[in-house]
Amino acid sequence: SIGEKRLLSIHKEDGSTLQVSALVRTIRDSHEGADTALVIYSFADHEDQNLIPESAERTIKSLIETLSTVVEVRDPYTAGHQRRVSKLATAIAIEMGLSPDQLDSVREGALLHDIGKISVPTEILSKPGRLTENEWSLIQNHSEAGFRMLERIELPWPISSIVRQHHERLDGSGYPQGLKGREIPFETRIVSVADVFEAIVSHRPYRPAHERLAAITELTQGAGRLYDADVVDCCLSLVSKGFSLD
Ligand SMILES: [Fe+2]
Repeated sequence: SIGEKRLLSIHKEDGSTLQVSALVRTIRDSHEGADTALVIYSFADHEDQNLIPESAERTIKSLIETLSTVVEVRDPYTAGHQRRVSKLATAIAIEMGLSPDQLDSVREGALLHDIGKISVPTEILSKPGRLTENEWSLIQNHSEAGFRMLERIELPWPISSIVRQHHERLDGSGYPQGLKGREIPFETRIVSVADVFEAIVSHRPYRPAHERLAAITELTQGAGRLYDADVVDCCLSLVSKGFSLD
């Protein structure tokens, strides 16, 4: 599991006390040496008042689902990619014991993670064979483009950040910002691992589908360097237990 839930009391200057619940875990970022740190993954008001009515939340979720299918209509080669990534990422998040709010972030963020591909010309998205450097940079721009599309919408979950960061890698080799280690939130790390797994096992215009083994090898070799090692472990254990993407 991801860590333990602790109830913390914060004593405020005015003498009052605030009760909060926090999900904490000790982590080690291998690329930063044997550094260990206590990380707080979620920090919620213990009363946990839901500021958005449930009916509004359901409406937002249906809109997100619709929006998710809109991008994929333009890009038939990746039809269902976001849905499958969302399914796998959510399963990982459940397995790792994330809070209901974080689960929603992971599920909804994964459903829209490639929304910025709407700004990439269809000819490039469906081009068979090798892409030129220029075409690659247009494709890579999709994470920033997706962020720009969503950043001004007030959503109950940090979806726009997940969209922007899903190609960031722990060692800083990702894009668009080259974030490193703990700068990449846990929810995003889960979406990234699910994205990589789904992308390798599924067909792309520029290459045929690889075996599951290729995806497992990529994640295993990148664990701790590119991808969160615990998330990779959890993903591979789900896969070995026969998890189905569809
Ligand atoms: Fe992407």
